[in-house]
Amino acid sequence: MRLLLPFLICITAILYAYSPSTTTFIQDSITTFLHQKLPATLSQYLPKTSINTTTTPTDPNFDSLLSYPTPIVLPITEMSTARAIRQVFLAIEQAEGAGARVRRSIGTAKLRNFSPFLMLDHFTIGKGAGFPDHPHRGQETITYLLSGGVDHEDFAGNKGTIGPGDLQFMTAGRGIMHAEMPHENPDGSPNVGMQLWVDLPKELKMCEPRYRDLRASEIPLVKTDEDRVEIKVISGQSHGVDSVKELAYTPVWLLDVTIRPGGRLSQALPQGWNAFAYTLAGKTIFGSNDSTQTVKEFHNVVFEQEGDLVEASVPDNADSDARFIIVAGQPLDQKVVQYGPFVLNSQEEVYQAMLDYQTASNGFEKSRNWQSEIGKRMAY
Ligand code: CO
Repeated sequence: MRLLLPFLICITAILYAYSPSTTTFIQDSITTFLHQKLPATLSQYLPKTSINTTTTPTDPNFDSLLSYPTPIVLPITEMSTARAIRQVFLAIEQAEGAGARVRRSIGTAKLRNFSPFLMLDHFTIGKGAGFPDHPHRGQETITYLLSGGVDHEDFAGNKGTIGPGDLQFMTAGRGIMHAEMPHENPDGSPNVGMQLWVDLPKELKMCEPRYRDLRASEIPLVKTDEDRVEIKVISGQSHGVDSVKELAYTPVWLLDVTIRPGGRLSQALPQGWNAFAYTLAGKTIFGSNDSTQTVKEFHNVVFEQEGDLVEASVPDNADSDARFIIVAGQPLDQKVVQYGPFVLNSQEEVYQAMLDYQTASNGFEKSRNWQSEIGKRMAY
């Protein structure tokens, strides 16, 4: 069976010049083959449609990205301008396999091509569900656990657990195969968290894979506006306080904000970065004086690129606190070609990733005969 996929790819290449329709047919056959060959849980990741191709806006600073330039963040003054809101939408909850529910707000028809962000899932995973052994190439994933616990194990022998308030930063690079399995909590409560997929700069697509756990205790907490606003500085900077460094290769800021009734936040963000807020609880007023929107929980608030800061507040008479995350990232000037957990820059690279995975080569060597311990909890 390992020879079938290379054979199909060769035939595809040979026929390409002669008949585009035949090529499409064979590409579909490869898709069908992968769906049959891969474990059922991985098939969930694979799109039902063919490969989608998108181009992100150009960024003149791209070459300097790899040396991790300090993002330009202007101090807040009377001259500062607030970013306008481009879009607000509810992340609708849907079933994702047995026992998992997901609110996906990036990587759907509502919000694509929002470089460097590929996907954002707000997940709730109960008993008997999880993500057993599956591969990745070409992206980073940031997992932020809000409640419960998630174990992880990869084919290089790394193992660990993240608990409430902890994060895991995973760089897939040229190849990782791992399992992500939620706990079965004694009280039956589900495991809730956020998983963000971030694109890797094309020069780093084939870098060595890497993990970095960030414990809740390592995250600085900023209090402002007479303690009515609390900001967990997971990644980036808020009110002069810096997060732990070197979490991910692609520059991303991630702040977890709680605002009590009567509180107001002005948060400076790097110039030119894409940014959004995702609401977790309460009602937040986003925007400035002349243009505001009140947003309830589980919405994605997408900001325009122009402007120095974002503003958020909760009225005096609100009956509860509001909580949301603010996420900002350096846009990458590159094409995104994604096929499930393989995120590259061209169709050829995606086929190569599938081939490398199937043949356990070019970064997937350790996947040969590897099976995680934690994935065995879930029969598939
Ligand atoms: Co994964």
